[in-house]
Amino acid sequence: MSGVSRGSWSGQVGFVLAAAGSAIGLGNIWRFPFATSQNGGGAFVLVYIAAVVLVGMPILISEVLIGRSAQRNPVGAFRALAPASAWPLVGMLGVSAGFVILSYYAVVAGWAFNYLVAAAGGRLTAPTTAGAQRVFDSLTGSAGRQIFWEAVFMVTTIVVVARGVEAGIERASKILMPLLFAFLLVLLGYALTSPRAGEGLEFFLRPRFSELGWGGVLSALGQAFFSLSLGMGAMITYGSYLEQEHSVVKAAGLIVTMDTAIAILAGLVIFPLVFTYGLDPSAAGPGLVFVILPEAFVRMPASGFLATLFFALLLFAALTSAISLLEVVVAYLIDELDWSRATSSWGAGLVIFALGIPSALSGSFLGWADWIASELMLPIGGLFIAVFVAWILPATTVRSEYEGASGAIRGFRAWRFCVRFVAPVAVAVILLQKIGMF
Ligand code: PHE
Repeated sequence: MSGVSRGSWSGQVGFVLAAAGSAIGLGNIWRFPFATSQNGGGAFVLVYIAAVVLVGMPILISEVLIGRSAQRNPVGAFRALAPASAWPLVGMLGVSAGFVILSYYAVVAGWAFNYLVAAAGGRLTAPTTAGAQRVFDSLTGSAGRQIFWEAVFMVTTIVVVARGVEAGIERASKILMPLLFAFLLVLLGYALTSPRAGEGLEFFLRPRFSELGWGGVLSALGQAFFSLSLGMGAMITYGSYLEQEHSVVKAAGLIVTMDTAIAILAGLVIFPLVFTYGLDPSAAGPGLVFVILPEAFVRMPASGFLATLFFALLLFAALTSAISLLEVVVAYLIDELDWSRATSSWGAGLVIFALGIPSALSGSFLGWADWIASELMLPIGGLFIAVFVAWILPATTVRSEYEGASGAIRGFRAWRFCVRFVAPVAVAVILLQKIGMF
């Protein structure tokens, strides 16, 4: 099953770019700011960073190890590494999470599409926060427009995935990510010099733990999984295209650093502007960046051009993430059911499009799907992935996979300690606390 039809990355750089492309997306720029705003600001950010370092990075390494040693999709990987066991169910959970996440992800990406076209047509002219809010509300109140843009985004994703890993993903990840980063730096300069920047920074950076609670801690953990594309096998799938000679640890370190930098940067841009424009951060929901950024652009010189460029870059980032979500499902269909890549991509993609329609019809459905996926499916999947690598895979396999052909064993003991104890205990305790509260 593996081998002939699988293909692989053109070396370490190709893998890092594609995995970073998966990680960096709406999770960083859309989800992280509004999750922070709903959970009291600075305390959420601190817990988020702790979750990224102590849980996210170790699980990221684990997923890549599983994928690379099995050379298969998430279900097939568990089946190959633990034959005649229930472990493939963890892979199935991941494939299901791929369906759920991509369904509403495409709706939100569709919003970005709508703003892109509006900006390019010179129609982003809301000069006030209330006006910008009305523009967003009218979009999310229109099933027709949302479903139309959701369809445009899904078809784009399907076409790229149908063309295969090499042609589709890798080429796309190379140029535009650094551009997005540079663009955010420019916005940062603008935001930090805005009148009420100080209050925004204080909200974003000063921890107020009393406002967090176990619900907020679970949200921060879920945000870490979501943002790093963990817990559902995306990194297992991408790892399965990575060759032996490359160092997993170095790659993981780069991916985590870039992803976290973009999220923090997004926060540093958004919150000064939130306060400057007089928005109540804790009341702002998923519309946060779609209200704040257009308003900022409208006040800048060359606003149409800047807004167009920004939404194009955001869409591109969303596309490389969506590709990885669809790729999990498609790799499963190709490896396990022997479907062709084209049939798998179109078949799964169209089903996911249909599953997304309820999220386009109802914001609360979208929120609910997002909650199920990021605060339940991903952490539970991640918990099992950590346990599998730490306690089920033979220690010798784990060690030799960790080294790769490079022979470098840097950080092995710290990593092993995290996957054996820290990550599973943290996820389990946080999930149980949250359940216990209700
Ligand atoms: N990490 C992506 C983002 O931040 C979303 C994603 C989640 C992608 C899970 C793949 C798997 O936008």
